[in-house]
Amino acid sequence: MTTTPVPVPVSDAADPRLADYTALTDVALRRRKEPAEGLFMAEGEKVIRRALRAGYPMRSMLLTPRWADAMRDVVETSGAPVYLVEPETAERVTGYHVHRGALAAMGRRPLPTAAELLAGARRLAVLEAVNDHTNVGAVFRGAAALGLDGVLLSPDCADPLYRRSVKVSMGAVFSLPYARLDRWPHGLGDVTAAGFRLLALTPDARARDIAEVAAECRTERVALLLGAEGDGLTPRALAAADTLVRIPMSHGVDSLNVAAAAAVAFYAVTAA
Ligand SMILES: C[S@@+](CC[C@H](N)C(=O)[O-])C[C@H]1O[C@@H](n2cnc3c(N)ncnc32)[C@H](O)[C@@H]1O
Repeated sequence: MTTTPVPVPVSDAADPRLADYTALTDVALRRRKEPAEGLFMAEGEKVIRRALRAGYPMRSMLLTPRWADAMRDVVETSGAPVYLVEPETAERVTGYHVHRGALAAMGRRPLPTAAELLAGARRLAVLEAVNDHTNVGAVFRGAAALGLDGVLLSPDCADPLYRRSVKVSMGAVFSLPYARLDRWPHGLGDVTAAGFRLLALTPDARARDIAEVAAECRTERVALLLGAEGDGLTPRALAAADTLVRIPMSHGVDSLNVAAAAAVAFYAVTAA
């Protein structure tokens, strides 16, 4: 006789079964749990369902009683242990308020190599040192929405599977392939060697207007290189690019946030 899995009530925040979730403050999560132990946190019903649909294995799930019904099918089909905790216990365990009443510890999957990503793509984003999780999530959301084929990350970019990036991306980090370029900036040579025209996004007035360059690249493979808030792209990354391109600015604004610039550039090269 088979029994239907049911969430197991847990009231003690120190229960060892909740160890994957303990003290997951942003800094602790980044330093301790990700990616060394191969875990990431999916928060909220939509994000958990998207991660499962994308094939990430669930290791366990925390649910507050309000969410037990809505997540019943996941409880019954995932095969992972599910713990039922009161919202206050969830907060004591994780170190933050679990807004959406459902939190799942998910296993990571091996990333494609940069060479694999380059082989099958036509339009790519390449991020240099974008170390803000919100910006990484927002770039992924824009890249997925505007039809890019993937994202390449410099070694010092923030983790796309970090809780904040996952949330801001609305789950796009699960559907859009990404890879790390381990050698930086030399790995940019692999991008151009694979036949991509590498366009470096910079607000520098000497760069060419992106609309004009995008029109020239209609039939080419294109990779769009973007930098971080603050200093933007390093001189070495700029030097590795084929063409420097800019989005013209008005009203004395000197630059856009990287995710906003990315969305404009993605549209320019996909719509041209
Ligand atoms: C906040 S900006 C960095 C500003 C920095 N002072 C600079 O000169 O690049 C972050 C990134 O967004 C992109 N970006 C922002 N505004 C842009 C614009 N007007 N044209 C092209 N790229 C832009 C660039 O890739 C830049 O590295």
